Amino acid sequence: MRHLSQQELADLLNRPVFHLISEVADSLGMECYVVGGYVRDLFLERPSKDIDVVVVGSGIELARAVASRIGKRAHLSVFKNFGTAQVKINRDNEEVELEFVGARRESYSHDSRKPIVEDGTLEDDQNRRDFTINAMAVCLNRERFGELVDPFDGVWDLEDRIIATPLDPDMTFSDDPLRMMRCIRFATQLNFEIEEETFNALNRNRDRIKIISQERITDELQKIMSSDSPGRGIELLFSCGLLELIFPELYALHGTESVGGRSHKDNLWHTLEVLGNVVKAGAPLWLRWAALLHDIGKPRTKRWEASAGWTFHNHNSVGAKMVPQIFRRMKLPTDERMKYVEKLVALHMRPIVIADEEVTDSAVRRLLFEAGDDIDDLMTLCEADITTKNNDRKQRFLDNFRLVRLKLVDLEERDRIRNFQPPVSGEEIMESFHLPPSKPVGIIKEAIKDAILDGIIPNEHDAAFAFAVTKAAELGISID
Ligand code: CTP
Repeated sequence: MRHLSQQELADLLNRPVFHLISEVADSLGMECYVVGGYVRDLFLERPSKDIDVVVVGSGIELARAVASRIGKRAHLSVFKNFGTAQVKINRDNEEVELEFVGARRESYSHDSRKPIVEDGTLEDDQNRRDFTINAMAVCLNRERFGELVDPFDGVWDLEDRIIATPLDPDMTFSDDPLRMMRCIRFATQLNFEIEEETFNALNRNRDRIKIISQERITDELQKIMSSDSPGRGIELLFSCGLLELIFPELYALHGTESVGGRSHKDNLWHTLEVLGNVVKAGAPLWLRWAALLHDIGKPRTKRWEASAGWTFHNHNSVGAKMVPQIFRRMKLPTDERMKYVEKLVALHMRPIVIADEEVTDSAVRRLLFEAGDDIDDLMTLCEADITTKNNDRKQRFLDNFRLVRLKLVDLEERDRIRNFQPPVSGEEIMESFHLPPSKPVGIIKEAIKDAILDGIIPNEHDAAFAFAVTKAAELGISID
């Protein structure tokens, strides 16, 4: 991170939009600053789209004046109740979003995120912000253009890579408990440490998260999941006590138990390792979710069996059934993205079972049939799932997975199982064997599918039809 002089900041703000705001504010005699995330990201050299402008006076008045100077390309929305206004500018297909707000002082009541708001000074406004790195302001008025106002040494915290609140963290978090999620999200996204007192306050105030809507919590969680190291974010949520409240099923994976000196692994740390592995493999968001939830059924299926030790029989299907419940509660999308996660959780043991035994054509064909187009993601998840420290065992699995992958390519070329369509349809069976819609039609269709997956017949119409004739004869049904 670079420290920036007033001249350097002025150079970075050398954009028509800032000069326009500067001019309009000067003509109205208003003091105004660019503030918050935009300033933070200037120092971090991160791209930042939205621009927050704080005005000592009426933010709405400045926004109106700025919008009218821009004319047709500007779209103004005023939120009277919040005392804010937004100006969207469309230029060369690029959209800039400006948010204007009057400097304010806020006080909160215990049971709501909605503050009582009064007009205030720039200092009041900076005091009410969440973190020191988000409380820096740069003046836009011409005389002071580029001057940094940084009362909490946010620049030094950026340099030291620290997330800390400007005021007493208990107050900052209790006022607006969403900031607890933001704290962990910023620490994760920026790879910063959380200052000790701020971290302790997360723990003390964690119950306050209950007044935050699920949508907002999930929004932050999604930002954590999309970051470069989502596992670190989950670990922070765990260690400050928030995970237990916002994601009890994941929290339940934590811990080990032992009987007669035999213990099972801690499934939360294992899960985070798997998550890290899929991220390394370049996984997009929903594959990350599949990794996060792949063992979610383990706590409910855990048994101690004297003969076998610790078992988690069927944890994949129990886990898959939990996916829609979790998605619904978390207000995650309940569409094909949920179905995808559900499917990967359900199937995540299959390649391992295949790779643990002899890799037969028939087992691989069945896997391909069930996974369809998601087969590659499933294989990535399964490879990530091998976290054993026993290198020989790990190598054996990875070698077998390579074999499974080779066979997948080979079999797909030959049999086109990935998007399997029965080569003989139900209608054709009914017509040819003079059958009404009935059980034998289903039996014949299923037998054809099994014969193809088992490699008894090729995935072709004529072979499948001949097989159907034999199968029908076994059922006492003739073709004439
Ligand atoms: N802010 C705050 N408390 C919140 C939300 C926001 O104090 N619960 C303040 C911070 O000063 C923040 C600014 O409002 O920088 C703008 O908030 P927002 O646009 O949500 O976040 P950014 O900091 O811009 O970061 P990002 O765009 O990554 O969310």
